[in-house]
Amino acid sequence: MADKVLAASDEIHIADYGCGTGSNAILSIKPAVKSFADRYPGRAIYVHHVDQAENDWNTLFECAAGQDGYITLSSNVRPVASMGSFFSMAAPASSIDVGTSFGASHWLSLQPSISSKGALWFADLQGEARLELKKQAQRDWETFLTMRLRELRRGGRLMVSTLGAIPDAGEVNGICSSGRHTYRAMYHVAETMVNDGLISEHALRDFLMPIWFMSREETLEPFQRNKDLADGFSIERAEVVPAQHNPKDIFADQINAPQEYAASYKGFVRSFTESTFRHSLLRGETDQTTKANLNEFYDRFETLIKNGAGKYAFEIWLLTIELRKQ
Ligand SMILES: C[S@@+](CC[C@H](N)C(=O)[O-])C[C@H]1O[C@@H](n2cnc3c(N)ncnc32)[C@H](O)[C@@H]1O
Repeated sequence: MADKVLAASDEIHIADYGCGTGSNAILSIKPAVKSFADRYPGRAIYVHHVDQAENDWNTLFECAAGQDGYITLSSNVRPVASMGSFFSMAAPASSIDVGTSFGASHWLSLQPSISSKGALWFADLQGEARLELKKQAQRDWETFLTMRLRELRRGGRLMVSTLGAIPDAGEVNGICSSGRHTYRAMYHVAETMVNDGLISEHALRDFLMPIWFMSREETLEPFQRNKDLADGFSIERAEVVPAQHNPKDIFADQINAPQEYAASYKGFVRSFTESTFRHSLLRGETDQTTKANLNEFYDRFETLIKNGAGKYAFEIWLLTIELRKQ
């Protein structure tokens, strides 16, 4: 994508929205840096890493400067931290040549406050509750796009890639979403903790993961209702396709070693759910009970996965949209 962008000034600016700790972010940014460094030797290249305050920034910059990092590609390249939400301005107006966002834009700006009996996430939510959450998710996605439209230079490009969903008449709401068995396994575990009196019934009823994995159609909805976005961007690519590696179960390589399979699965799920659960579903009266709840939840989850023999396969469809600012 970066190869298609011509530098508009003496400075080149790349932004990565929701960069995380860097192990993936740096590898995905590197080809863009290389593209500009090769085509425009001598020009300053700034890489703006955008994430929340609590991100592990030290690890991110260690990755940028490390063996697989990008700073060795040119003496003129400079990593920059842009701290705060990507639902607000993350860079000066009309400054960004290339923007990327991987595995981040499905997170909503706020913890939903919607009663959700029988569901822990958007895909199993029904009726008014689903419409309400969809409204929140669409508002966030539109805000994300509006902010990027302001930040990009004319001719600049944005690629957003994250978990997606595909139409499926046999599924709840006619949509088959990445991670469907995973989130249902989490709901099942939470229910067992309610039954055992470890978490309250209303805590589960009032809890929803603050995420929405969009279908292609949902991804394109803001361009149909928002004239600034429709006029401001040309849509170069929009697709939801199975992930390239192990789309039917990202842990498929370990399926014959149930213990390892379950441990990897648990570790991965814990990495992206713990901070949400800590402040909501699994929050106890003291730090100690919260900690005990978290450990209990992930231990039960691991056991369920280990005994499930692949029943809870972690499926992934990847949503990718590439936009060019007109
Ligand atoms: C699953 S990680 C992905 C990290 C990296 N892009 C990658 O592909 O490995 C999601 C990241 O998005 C960040 N994130 C979520 N919501 C955000 C927001 N509103 N503003 C900025 N960053 C956000 C999280 O802090 C987290 O670092």
